[in-house]
Amino acid sequence: MKISVGADHGGFQLKELLRGKMEKEGHEIVDRGAYDPAAVDYPDIAFLVANDVKDSLVDRGILICGTGIGMSNAASRVEGVVAALCTNEYMARMARFHNNAYVLCLGSRVIGDEVAWAIIKEFIANDPLTDEKYNRRRKKVEKGA
Ligand code: RB5
Repeated sequence: MKISVGADHGGFQLKELLRGKMEKEGHEIVDRGAYDPAAVDYPDIAFLVANDVKDSLVDRGILICGTGIGMSNAASRVEGVVAALCTNEYMARMARFHNNAYVLCLGSRVIGDEVAWAIIKEFIANDPLTDEKYNRRRKKVEKGA
C-alpha cells in the first residue's frame, strides 16, 4: 500500500519509528516531513498529506502531532478528505468502517509506540462498509450544515 506520512516536531520521533515499521511490512512511504525535530507548523504538513489523499496519489494518509487534534482539524479542511483522530484500535477500525476516513491522525503525547502501531495496522487492514445508512450519513457530513 502507498501511504503518505507527516508529522510536526511533536510527532517527529514517532513518525520515524512508524515509517520504519511500515516499510518493513512492504508499504511504500511518501514522507512529507518534518525531516528533523525542529519546530514546524502542523497545518503545513497536514495539508501536504491531505492533498496526497485528495489527489489519489496514495491509498492512505497518516499524520502525527502532540495530541493529533491540530492535524485532524487541518486535514479535515481539505475538500473531500475525512481525517480521524484515533487513540485505540477500535476507533481506527470504525474510522474505516463507518466514517470512510483515509487520513489517520495520532497524538504522540497521548498514546505509546505499540498502541500507535496497532492503530495503524487496523487502519490499513479495513475498508469502508457500504451499507446504505453509512453512505447516507457520510453524504450528510460532506454536504455540511
Ligand atoms: C506542538 O507543541 C503541538 O501544539 C502540536 O504538536 C499539536 O499537539 C497540535 O495540535
